[in-house]
Amino acid sequence: MIDKLQDNLTLEEKKILGGIFSEKYYKVAYFSGIAYASSLLLELFEKIGILELLKNNYPSSKEIIEKFDFILGAKYSLEWMLNFLSQAGLLEKTEANKYHYNKTENINPQKLLEEVTKIDKNIVFSTNLMNYVISEYPNFFSGRKKGFEIIFAADKMSLWNDYFNNENSGYSAYNSLGAFGVAKWVAGCNNLKLLELGGGTGGATSALMDRLIKENKSSPISEYIFSDVSPIFLRIGNRTIMSKNCDCFPYLLKRLDFDKPLVEQEIAENSIDIVYAVNALHAARNLVDSLKNIHKVIKRGGKIIFCEYCRPNINHLLLQEFIFCLLDNYMNVDLDCRLRPVPGFLDFPHWELNLEAAGFKNIEAIFNTDADSSLDPKIKVGIIAAVIKGEKI
Ligand SMILES: C[S@@+](CC[C@H](N)C(=O)[O-])C[C@H]1O[C@@H](n2cnc3c(N)ncnc32)[C@H](O)[C@@H]1O
Repeated sequence: MIDKLQDNLTLEEKKILGGIFSEKYYKVAYFSGIAYASSLLLELFEKIGILELLKNNYPSSKEIIEKFDFILGAKYSLEWMLNFLSQAGLLEKTEANKYHYNKTENINPQKLLEEVTKIDKNIVFSTNLMNYVISEYPNFFSGRKKGFEIIFAADKMSLWNDYFNNENSGYSAYNSLGAFGVAKWVAGCNNLKLLELGGGTGGATSALMDRLIKENKSSPISEYIFSDVSPIFLRIGNRTIMSKNCDCFPYLLKRLDFDKPLVEQEIAENSIDIVYAVNALHAARNLVDSLKNIHKVIKRGGKIIFCEYCRPNINHLLLQEFIFCLLDNYMNVDLDCRLRPVPGFLDFPHWELNLEAAGFKNIEAIFNTDADSSLDPKIKVGIIAAVIKGEKI
């Protein structure tokens, strides 16, 4: 299925994708995404004393929480860390969900960072955020700080701005892939009314403008609604769009919550040609309900197009989660064993099920790689990104 979808691309499109997900990108994604993150987690475990316990025993997450007097809310992120390290081959995990560390060599995060910044200095926009979040985990585990206080600390907003910025090679590929999807799936259309949900810092909007300029065609978009649930992000996003000084399309700002019906927030039924989002929709509390609400405001013949971190399979852990595990609204979503078995990011088959359940048809996806869902041994990274399209017919 995945190979077949990837085969739908023209040579020119494959060239564009190859430019976004280049060998350099994978090298950096592997080093910063797996090796560096793992070394930071081991360093954190060493600092707290967990590593010593893991070396000498086979504790479960429950035993670790009791021994170190962590708050109960630490369970999910601690288990995520233990499972991420075992996924990376650094911890042994038994059938009884107990963990053990038996490696002897020390991985030095600083050394890894020096190596990876030689390949790409802009990766610091990702690693700075990772360093900050990791440094706050002891406060979170002990209950001294709540997750949202850490994530939304006023003096740390610039870290987010840098992270979602298109200068950040570790993240910008998602904005570029999203823009690629829009350009591909709106080709030949014009006069479109586009609604972006969860627009955040405006990074995805900015990448879309760049794509349209690059294509050198008159813009197919005649009205752009940039929206987010957070007034702070609306302000930041507005600054990004204004600074582009680009006349690709007129835009307006709107505070919209995709957990609530959009028709109750002044978006008329059947009024939108394209609903667009980058790394936002996985946060929906009830994903099918949100997708149904989106379906309602799209015109017949219109589309939803969104780009997301994509799990290669539903149980695979993605690095970015150690940041988002701190957020209640990332974790506390409505789960469903068929449609949404885990919180947060989905794999493509589950996106497909949710889109179908919401009434979308002709669902297609383009991935970062045409490798199948197992890890590519050469780059050690398989599917990690998807731009997905569904149509209202
Ligand atoms: C990962 S960021 C998206 C990044 C964005 N595409 C960018 O380029 O900066 C997720 C965004 O979704 C927004 N969001 C989360 N829940 C939302 C909701 N229920 N309704 C609307 N926006 C939401 C957040 O405020 C945040 O700005």
